[in-house]
Amino acid sequence: MSPNGGYVLWLTGLSGAGKSTIAGLVSDELETRSVLVERLDGDIVREHLSKGLGFSKEDRDTNIARIGWVASRLARAGAAVVVSAISPYDQARRRARALTEEHAPFIEIWVATSLEECARRDPKGLYRKAYSGELAEFTGVSDPYEEPDDAELRIETEGRSPEQCAGQVLAKLVELGLLAEEVAA
Ligand SMILES: Nc1ncnc2c1ncn2[C@@H]1O[C@H](COP(=O)(O)OP(=O)(O)OP(=O)(O)O)[C@@H](O)[C@H]1O
Ligand SMILES: [Mg+2]
Repeated sequence: MSPNGGYVLWLTGLSGAGKSTIAGLVSDELETRSVLVERLDGDIVREHLSKGLGFSKEDRDTNIARIGWVASRLARAGAAVVVSAISPYDQARRRARALTEEHAPFIEIWVATSLEECARRDPKGLYRKAYSGELAEFTGVSDPYEEPDDAELRIETEGRSPEQCAGQVLAKLVELGLLAEEVAA
């Protein structure tokens, strides 16, 4: 554990997998337990830190490198950093892990919702646009998603509620000694 108790919780998965939903529930529960939490959500980061970046491999790598760098610094300062970003490339995730692990634990959570289910949910209407060709370089459709083989936890969201999935993340934190045992959210 880092001297300050910080860590990075990194949620990766397809668009619509449930990363932001689960990250929100986990963050709320951590805050209820008086943990210092900072969230880095892909959509928000792209409005600020990564404004102007697109979805080429180079820009995606730059985006993830920035998130990884900020996350590692915040974790070093003692925050529980909850990242929710597609982060489709294995090497970029590994770099974020290596940077963080110089100072603090890195817990990778693969929100492993199937492409079919994500496209069915389509909360932002992006799959419809991707399949109609209106939107290029869309992860899972016209851009790769490299499945993690080193994730600390793989979550199946199909047939489970967001609250159940958040509970699995909190249980993993307890198991890793990063959170005191309490009745889960
Ligand atoms: N078990 C579950 N966990 C999380 N989300 C779920 C679950 N079951 C259904 N959903 C629904 O799936 C959708 C997930 O959307 P969300 O915005 O969280 O995805 P995301 O992974 O952050 O996508 P993006 O990469 O586009 O930001 C929401 O509408 C949510 O209500
Ligand atoms: Mg999201």
